[in-house]
Order: sequence, then C-alpha cells, then structure tokens
Amino acid sequence: MASRLVLAGAAVVLVCAVQAFVLPGAPAPARLRGATEGSSKPSPSLSIAGVAATTAAFGVAAAFAKTRSRPAKTAAKYTTQTILPSLAWIKTGVKASELQPTELRALTLAGNDVLIGKTEAGALFCVGNLCPHIGTPMSEGADVIGDVIVCPLHGSSFQVSDGQLIDWCVSPPVIGPLTGLIVEKKNLLVFECRQGGFLGSGEVEVLVDTNAKKAYEANYWKGLLDAQGKDDGTYY
Ligand code: FES
Repeated sequence: MASRLVLAGAAVVLVCAVQAFVLPGAPAPARLRGATEGSSKPSPSLSIAGVAATTAAFGVAAAFAKTRSRPAKTAAKYTTQTILPSLAWIKTGVKASELQPTELRALTLAGNDVLIGKTEAGALFCVGNLCPHIGTPMSEGADVIGDVIVCPLHGSSFQVSDGQLIDWCVSPPVIGPLTGLIVEKKNLLVFECRQGGFLGSGEVEVLVDTNAKKAYEANYWKGLLDAQGKDDGTYY
C-alpha cells in the first residue's frame, strides 16, 4: 500500500513537471523567456505548475510518513523455539477463609486453567480445571467427595493431593467406558498452592508456569509450519 502511494505521488510530480517544461504549447520557462524577451516577470502557468508539484510532493511525503507510523496488521509475535518453564507464585484474589469445604473456584492464572477448592475435611488444594479425558471443565459440576474430585461428564475421579487417577470414565453405563477407550488414561494436573499473608490470612497463591501459554503457542506454530515443510520437521 505504501509503495503504491509513493508511486502515485511520484507520477503526479512527473506529470506536473512535464506540463511545466516539456509539453508543446505550454509556456516556456521563465528562465528561457527572460533570455529571449528580456522579462524577469514569472509566468503564471509556471507558478501554478510549481504549486501543484510542491503540493503533490508534500502529499507523497505525508502519505509515506502516515503509512510508516501505522502499526502492521499482522505483527509476527510468535516463535517456534522451545520455551522453558518459568515458575512463579500468583495471587488468586481469593482468601482460603472464603472457601467452604467441597467448594470449587475456577481461575485462569497466567494462561493456566486451575481449580482451587477444599476437601471435605477443609484442606486447600489446586488442580487443573480441564479433565484429562476430553478437556471438559471440571468446574461445570464436579463433586468433591472426601479428598477425591469427580468429573461431571463421565465420572472419572482423581486424588486432589497428587492428581492420581482412581476411576476412568465410569458413567453413564456403556457409553462412558466406550468414550474412555479412545483416550489414553492420564492423571489430573495438580498445582502447588499456599495461603499468603500473616499466618495464612491473605489470598491463596498458586505456583504456575508463567510461560505455559507462550510454550503452547510455540508448539502450535511449530506443528503448523512442520506440516508445511517450513520448519525443521521435529514436531512429528
Ligand atoms: S470429560 Fe471427564 S471423564 Fe470424560
């Protein structure tokens, strides 16, 4: 777009110059007429051409400056490089005292979908919010029974302390187990959590990888480019 504007402006300048100096029928330049007629008065047509050329030049410069300062529509902010984890304690804005036993609270912390909650005995925990079966948010109706969390969709259950799988896709009968066959069994993600402030009076804090989103995106781009033969092919 910028190059088109520059070309258009240059064309206008060229036309004006040609009209002023070259085209037959156009008045001779003042410098030449002064030599033949002895007059130093500037030609009106030359002045008009000069003004037009100057205006066009200013227009080109302004358009060029405008296009240079405008941000690009598709800024390339992605990478395909391996992004290393960067762990940090992130405040949740939730105090542990606000959570009742078996209550769950879904949050996104630095791109990580987590679920903080309390066991029936009142112990604080934090697990990944997405079920490792097919990614259903546990926050959409999961039950906490003792220190076990049960997925609302197919009843997979996990220990909240370490994410250990207990049962895999047990409901509804027949359909649940069938859906379980198509996905490899996995444990639930767990996150370290703590209560900040004096004697745990502050917000719940969770230890998360603040580079998780960047790493996911880098992997996505790598897969995409590898599929097109444009990266090093190590994704597949
Ligand atoms: S989505 Fe959780 S068990 Fe199927």
